[in-house]
Amino acid sequence: MNSPLHPDFESVVLTEEDISQHIQKLADQLNQDYQNKCPVILAVLKGVYPFLSDLTKHLHFYCDVEFIAASSYHGGTATTDWVEIYLWPRMSLKGKDVIIVEDIIDSGLTLKKIKQKVLSEGASSVKLVTLLDKPSGRKTRLEADYVGTTVKPLFLVGYGLDFQEKYRNVPYIGVLKKEIITMNAKDYPWRNEN
Ligand code: IMP
Ligand code: MG
Repeated sequence: MNSPLHPDFESVVLTEEDISQHIQKLADQLNQDYQNKCPVILAVLKGVYPFLSDLTKHLHFYCDVEFIAASSYHGGTATTDWVEIYLWPRMSLKGKDVIIVEDIIDSGLTLKKIKQKVLSEGASSVKLVTLLDKPSGRKTRLEADYVGTTVKPLFLVGYGLDFQEKYRNVPYIGVLKKEIITMNAKDYPWRNEN
């Protein structure tokens, strides 16, 4: 199904069809590697929600799903070195196989901090799954174990990815028009309705 292009978008980078093919490939790999295991899926909010939902529907092994919230972006388009983890599962991760699921890895700082915390809680294995990987943005050594696709150094929105907390609900991934990114906050299209 092809949705009409959102008026604030300059272009589409990944269509709904592209996304679903990447997800099927990731699910096939996970189904092979985790058969007969019962991992804990740790999903990194908020951007991961459409990906998590679509990915987990294709997983055939038993699993727990837990949520983490971390922030390094503060709603803008440039990452900062400061990472805050403000939601963490109550269940113990000791002795568990953990699969961390992310929407996109840019600097790698968020996942590095999360991975260290998971290991410090005594998980027996930790693997990283990301729909998108932006290796050009790395500020630390971090590699995902399962990557949907690599993307160029562009600021992407849609399918969970936001600009100013907007556009997460758009079903494809693309680039915003320059005038939206550079606009004075008081002129944002969601501010001047009515
Ligand atoms: P990192 O710590 O720099 O790897 O940042 C990871 C987080 O930053 C992701 O989970 C996203 O929430 C956000 N992020 C990174 N790149 C983009 C982008 O192109 N668009 C929107 N959010 C992004
Ligand atoms: Mg994220």
